[in-house]
Amino acid sequence: MPERIFIGVAWPYANGPLHMGHIAGCYLAADIFARYHRMRGNEVLMVSGSDAHGTPITVRAEQEGITPEQVLDRYHPQFLQTWQQLGVSFDLFTTTDTENHQRVAQELFLDLLEKGYIYPDSMLLAYCPGCRRFLPDRYIEGRCPHCDNDRARGDQCDACGRTLDPQDLVDSRCILSGESPEFRESEHFFLRLSAFQEQLLEWIRKQDHWRANVANSTRSFLEGGLKDRAITRDLSWGVPIPLEGYDDKRIYVWFEAVIGYLSAAMEWAANNGEPDRWQDFWKDPGTRSYYFIGKDNIPFHSIIWPAILMGYGHDLNLPYDVPANEFLSLEGRKFSTSQDWALWVPDYLERYDPDPLRYLLSINMPESGDADFAWSEFVRRNNEELVATYGNLVNRVLSFTYRNFEGVVPTPGDLTPADQEIIETARAAWGRVEENLANCRFKAAITQAFGLAQDTNRYLDARAPWRAIRTDSRDAATTLWNALRVLNTLKILLAPFLPFSSDKVHNFLGLDGEVSGQPWDFAHCIGQIQAGSPLRQPQPLYTKLDPEVVEQETQRLAGTGG
Ligand code: MF3
Ligand code: ZN
Repeated sequence: MPERIFIGVAWPYANGPLHMGHIAGCYLAADIFARYHRMRGNEVLMVSGSDAHGTPITVRAEQEGITPEQVLDRYHPQFLQTWQQLGVSFDLFTTTDTENHQRVAQELFLDLLEKGYIYPDSMLLAYCPGCRRFLPDRYIEGRCPHCDNDRARGDQCDACGRTLDPQDLVDSRCILSGESPEFRESEHFFLRLSAFQEQLLEWIRKQDHWRANVANSTRSFLEGGLKDRAITRDLSWGVPIPLEGYDDKRIYVWFEAVIGYLSAAMEWAANNGEPDRWQDFWKDPGTRSYYFIGKDNIPFHSIIWPAILMGYGHDLNLPYDVPANEFLSLEGRKFSTSQDWALWVPDYLERYDPDPLRYLLSINMPESGDADFAWSEFVRRNNEELVATYGNLVNRVLSFTYRNFEGVVPTPGDLTPADQEIIETARAAWGRVEENLANCRFKAAITQAFGLAQDTNRYLDARAPWRAIRTDSRDAATTLWNALRVLNTLKILLAPFLPFSSDKVHNFLGLDGEVSGQPWDFAHCIGQIQAGSPLRQPQPLYTKLDPEVVEQETQRLAGTGG
């Protein structure tokens, strides 16, 4: 029975290019998961989009003297290009600046208002006497009341991960003028989070398949007691409040951005000419919803979004899993857009292929702890693992066969125990990779697949078809035919991680179409290699990188940031 899988991926602020930290944080994991499930024959809907609102966008616009729309118009197309070049296979990547999204966000707002889960109240807002304006949350810094971090922002403390309101900060100051803000009364709308405390606790208790980091931070957040939160702001850029008299206010970015998961599914369905299809992914209780995000977004997806969904009702599915990753650092230092300490994905893609990056970020994914991107590691793993283990395996089997057997799959003789054993090894690896993928353990999955590549290299070394060919060409034929069968399974196991390479292997094996259209089926892979069918002229899968790359790239980094 095919399953239905909804995959929501964090909406990146469209205020600058994507860097490696974004990719390692959620986009790669989501894509691996989507590709795996599609090959399994499951129905997948993977959506996200540019987060068009919020201070990250308005700050950028102010800095450059352009409008927020212009900022969005610059980065949104760039994001689309990055997904295409990196092979991140969204079914829809839209923006929160669409009429559809505005309509859906407003509908949820009014529905919750009617039910009393949203209510108006006056609140104290930070007003900077120096700048003579209300300050967005991110313009305010101060000490975190929970952990004493002195650089907490008005919306969140990065040290302990708690979400905050500006008034919570001790000794707060405006980041522009340094003056301490005054708090002035203003009327706003609040989300009655406190009403969901019990329901959320009960729901969280049942999520025993969640990663420990996500479950723990969600639980400690809940145990602290939920406070109602303001979900509107004094702003002119964002989703308007659908009521008279609030022209100078907007819905807060975090309240409406998460609604994007729902509005994007509706947009996708409408684009496909089946406007009700989104319900398959949102109302069928058998559909599982996964939210791939970075760890700084956990409470928004494990508490606030579920609370909005609980309040709205209408039988919409709650998240099934929130497999948040930890952080990636760059050469041992935190990524920082403002300090220009970053490795931009478009920049990387100008000089290197997508799969080596996908490989490194998979095998080194910050899944259960933080991880680091270092150029020395990139070059080492590219040369020692991609090129030497997998690329070399593919290349030696295919070129040797192509040259010595007239470009066709050779006809095997009787199988030796070693031939049978490597197939059993492949079958066992298949099961482990599959189990890890299904449970969002991507690092373990690719490690298992590479273990099979290593085992296959050992098998070849032991069977040595290049020696056998001189004395017993049938024996060489048997080994190569068998090795081609294993390559055909490796191609599938690695396809979620290395889609471009798998397409090449598929093509060298003489098969047509793309790997993404192949079934996830071990017996099919093994049976697909038929004696006598033509192969195609193989090419090396990967390029060895000169160790000088490390020097060059590190200097380039030091030149921009540092
Ligand atoms: N734009 C936010 C960020 O980059 C993430 C938003 S995820 C969403 O941190 F679901 F709220 F959209
Ligand atoms: Zn803190």
